Amino acid sequence: MDLNSIDFYMEIEAPHVARKWKPGNFVILMLHEKGERIPESVYSVRDGRIGMFIRRHGKTTLELYHRFKVGDYIYAISGPHGREFPIKHYGTVIYASDAVCGHAENASFTQELKKYDNYVISIQTFETGKEVYPEEFLAEKHADEHYVTTLDGSAGVKGHYTDLISKIISERRVDLVLTGGSLAGMFKASELTKRHGIPNYALVRTIMVDGTGMCGSCRVFYGGAVRFACVDGPVMNAHLIDWEDVMRRDKRFIEEQEKAKNLFLS
Ligand code: FES
Repeated sequence: MDLNSIDFYMEIEAPHVARKWKPGNFVILMLHEKGERIPESVYSVRDGRIGMFIRRHGKTTLELYHRFKVGDYIYAISGPHGREFPIKHYGTVIYASDAVCGHAENASFTQELKKYDNYVISIQTFETGKEVYPEEFLAEKHADEHYVTTLDGSAGVKGHYTDLISKIISERRVDLVLTGGSLAGMFKASELTKRHGIPNYALVRTIMVDGTGMCGSCRVFYGGAVRFACVDGPVMNAHLIDWEDVMRRDKRFIEEQEKAKNLFLS
């Protein structure tokens, strides 16, 4: 099902993954035996099915959207990958997201954090009002407070989630900030929370290949050491991440990605 002009919702029946999934874990999809491996964040786990928000921005996600129908099989779903994030009582927690993987985890984390009596403020940023997800897919139903912000101000609060975080933390105590989505947004939030001395964990979705710590693709400089987002994250302490290096590495296959996408579309 379409969530907006570029993101869609999909469920895959995978009881072996669903049984073991914990917040912070992600899955890897392969459409074909020799196909690309695509990491995806998890929005929901129920009745043995993994629900995901997926952005059709590359060859494989376009193929998944256009060529696979309800009831089809994909070659593999592997997981859960990554380190579980400790869900416990923190107090007042903000989860803020501005892109597809972050929005998926915004909903799942908000739901889990509520089970431990946290006061959860969820913020979801979209470019325009037209891009806001249908209500049933927003984190709204699980949060104590929920805000939609849009960059052009056509729905909700005008601005990016970092503007709203800045306002909230100037007015009241916040014990933990979680962020997911664009690297630039998480970087900005990290600078902001660091200045205010608020713990901040971010969903670091670098380019991943094997998802098991073997290939080195997702390498992150973390507090002066080398870490791998797929096994040491993907949810990591935002204040320890070398964000400029992460953003630089994230651009390294743009040309190849565009070529593969255009070939698929031609
Ligand atoms: Fe290969 Fe993390 S994806 S080391």
